[in-house]
Amino acid sequence: METNLWKWLNLRVCPWWLRGVLDNSLRRLIQEPERILSGLVAPGQVVADIGCGIGYFTIPLARLVGPQGRVLAIDLQETMLAGVQRRAAKVGLSERIQLCRATPTGFGVEEPVDFALTFFMIHEVPDQKHFLEEIHSLLKPGGRWLLTEPPVHVTAAAFAKTVALADATGFSLLSRPRIAFSHTALFLK
Ligand SMILES: C[S@@+](CC[C@H](N)C(=O)[O-])C[C@H]1O[C@@H](n2cnc3c(N)ncnc32)[C@H](O)[C@@H]1O
Repeated sequence: METNLWKWLNLRVCPWWLRGVLDNSLRRLIQEPERILSGLVAPGQVVADIGCGIGYFTIPLARLVGPQGRVLAIDLQETMLAGVQRRAAKVGLSERIQLCRATPTGFGVEEPVDFALTFFMIHEVPDQKHFLEEIHSLLKPGGRWLLTEPPVHVTAAAFAKTVALADATGFSLLSRPRIAFSHTALFLK
C-alpha cells in the first residue's frame, strides 16, 4: 500500500515539512471539514482523529463535540501533535483535545470512542489488519468509523481490499459518502 511518491521520497509517513499540503485554502474549498463531518458527530461525544496530522479535522471535531465532549488527537509524530496543540490553543479549544502519541503497534488510548476518523492516513500503515482491529476495539458498540483515502496514493482496487478487510474485521459498511478527490467508506461497529 506504500505509495510511489512516498517511496520516491524514501518516507514511511507524511512528514512535518509537508504540513502546508494538509491545511490550505484550496483544501478548505474542496474538502470542507464541517461539511464532511456534519451528521457524524454529536455534542458530548468522545471521538478519535487517528493520524490527525496538524489537526485539519481535529479543530472542527472539537467544535462539534462541544464543551462536554472530547477529541483524542492521535498521531505517530510528536511534531504533528505539537502543531495541533498550538492551533488548539490559538482558538481556545485545548481543553477538549487530548493529544495521544501513537506507536507503530498501538494508539496509546484505552477510552472507547463514539466516532473514529482516519482521513488520508491508512495507506501509511504497514499492517492494516492489525490497525483495523485496533480501530474496532477502540470504538463503542454502535460507533462509526469514517475511512477516507487519497486516489493519488491509493488505487480503487487497493481501497476495495481495505473495505473487504474492514468487513472481515467485523465492521458493517453503512454508506459511501461523496468527498472530493477521495475514496470513502462509512462503517458501523
Ligand atoms: C497524510 S497525513 C493526514 C493528516 C490528517 N488526517 C489530514 O487529513 O489532514 C497522515 C498522518 O498519519 C500519521 N500516521 C501514520 N501512521 C500512523 C499510525 N500508525 N498511527 C498514528 N498516526 C499515524 C502520520 O504521522 C501523519 O501525520
